[in-house]
Amino acid sequence: MTVHPIVEVGVPSLREVARPVDEAEYGSPRLRELAADLVDTMRAANGAGLAAPQIGVGLRVCVMEVKDNPRYPYKPPIPLTVLVNPRLTPLGEETFESYEGCLSVPGLRGVVRRHVGVRVDARDVEGGAIEREVWGVSAGTYQHECDHLDGVLFVDRVEDTRTFATWDAFREHHEAAFVERVRDLADRFGG
Ligand code: NI
Repeated sequence: MTVHPIVEVGVPSLREVARPVDEAEYGSPRLRELAADLVDTMRAANGAGLAAPQIGVGLRVCVMEVKDNPRYPYKPPIPLTVLVNPRLTPLGEETFESYEGCLSVPGLRGVVRRHVGVRVDARDVEGGAIEREVWGVSAGTYQHECDHLDGVLFVDRVEDTRTFATWDAFREHHEAAFVERVRDLADRFGG
C-alpha cells in the first residue's frame, strides 16, 4: 500500500494535459501499481475520486469510489472504478449545479455546472472496454475527475465566485439547500 502526497493547486504539473496510456502499457506492472496507489491515496484522504496528475503522474488514469464517505454523506454510492483513457460524451443538454471540492484545492468548495448525464468510454487497467452511462451527482464526479486529465480544476468552472465556501461555511450555510437539490436528482436518476 502506497499513499502518495497529493499535488496541490499552484503546482504547474497539475495544469498539464496528461498523456494517453499506450496500448503496450495495459496490464503492465507500472499501470497496475499506479491504479493501486491512486486507490490507496484516495481512500486515505477520504476522497470520492483521484486522478493520476494529483499524485504527480501525467497519465490519463483516474479512480472513483463512494461508500459511506464522511466528507460527502449526500453522495450516492459509486463502486470502485478505475478509468484509463476515459472519454465522456454529454447525454442531452441538461445541467445541474454541483457544490464541488477537490483534494488538490484543500478547504475550498464552489458551485460548478455539470451535465446530468454522460456516456463513459474508457479502458480498464488490463485494457478491457468500459462503456456505461452515468447520471446525477455521480455524473458530476466523473466529469470532475476527467477534467483533471486535461489540467482543469473545479475552480476554473466556478461561474459565481461568491459561491466559494470553506467546508465549515458550506456545512453551516449551503449544505442543506444543496442536499435538497441532490435528493431531487437522486429521485430522477437513482442512487
Ligand atoms: Ni479534484
